[in-house]
Amino acid sequence: MTESIFPNLRMRRLRQSAFIRDLVQEQRLHSSDLIWPIFVCEGENITEDVASMPDVKRYSIDRIVELARTATDLNIPAIALFPKTPEKLKNAAGSEALNDQNLVCQAVRAVKAACPELGIVCDVALDPYTDHGHDGLLDEQGKIVNDGTVDKLVQQARILAAAGCDIIAPSDMMDGRVGAIRSMLEKDGYTDIIILSYAAKYASAFYGPFRDAVGAGRKLGGDGKKTYQMNPSNSDEALREVALDIAEGADMVMVKPGIAYLDIIRRVSDTFSVPCIAYQVSGEYAMIQAAVQAGWLDKQTVVFESMMAFKRAGARGILTYFAPYIADCLNQK
Ligand code: PBG
Repeated sequence: MTESIFPNLRMRRLRQSAFIRDLVQEQRLHSSDLIWPIFVCEGENITEDVASMPDVKRYSIDRIVELARTATDLNIPAIALFPKTPEKLKNAAGSEALNDQNLVCQAVRAVKAACPELGIVCDVALDPYTDHGHDGLLDEQGKIVNDGTVDKLVQQARILAAAGCDIIAPSDMMDGRVGAIRSMLEKDGYTDIIILSYAAKYASAFYGPFRDAVGAGRKLGGDGKKTYQMNPSNSDEALREVALDIAEGADMVMVKPGIAYLDIIRRVSDTFSVPCIAYQVSGEYAMIQAAVQAGWLDKQTVVFESMMAFKRAGARGILTYFAPYIADCLNQK
């Protein structure tokens, strides 16, 4: 089709006023697009700041229940719970991950009792529980063991399922974990539990503030998580990872980090018909908040623009620490 050219065609006609811009808008953001990541800590009536994530806090379980009610009121469909495990409970094997009374399991039960309709996403990975901060077990040479870790992850997934979480999200990047978790869920009768796999998860420095928030991984050293998380230079490999996780039984897949990986979100959502979820990670959140605090960026405009970028790239849902802020803004419109 040949389009007639200027002056017959004036692109600015559809931009001239709010009514027509609204009418032809391609993407729209709803609070139902959002998943709100929340950090859980020990104690009662506790709210702790996370230095590198302004306005994000860790909350004790009683406060988490209040946040769950807020999420429900704001029409946010789901929250994702991450624990800050007390240092005394961490060890090389991450055994607290398998304690069905650990912080996350307790938080899941409390939230489900108060807000049964709210979706709960739980990470499966050992890093909040290991003293070395890796997502898996180490052998004598300090290498991350794959299959032995998968056995632990299956046990971790089982106690999270038993606690009542709706979505299991393996974030560890071990090979074969999605299939192993899916087999366990089927065998143990958890046939309705959704698996959201962190399928294309990159070895990224943008996770720094998260590691402060959960108190893990600042001392990883060496290769860091590069022997299991993906190389930021690769994109074809992301499609292989996603294909494998779908074949192993993932219902949804995640690309992470977000803004620097929009090309991956686009390729994944073009190639596969499973929902692709984006994670606007802690470092992306911190960058925006720092610039807002310095007075260099306008918060609302920039946050909404970043959400539109995810939607344009094909993301079906977005994990973001801005979730309550965004939902609040949307409700006021
Ligand atoms: C745990 C996990 C991480 C994040 C989510 N789950 C950290 C990591 O892999 O080192 C990062 C989230 C964020 O930065 O907001 N495996």
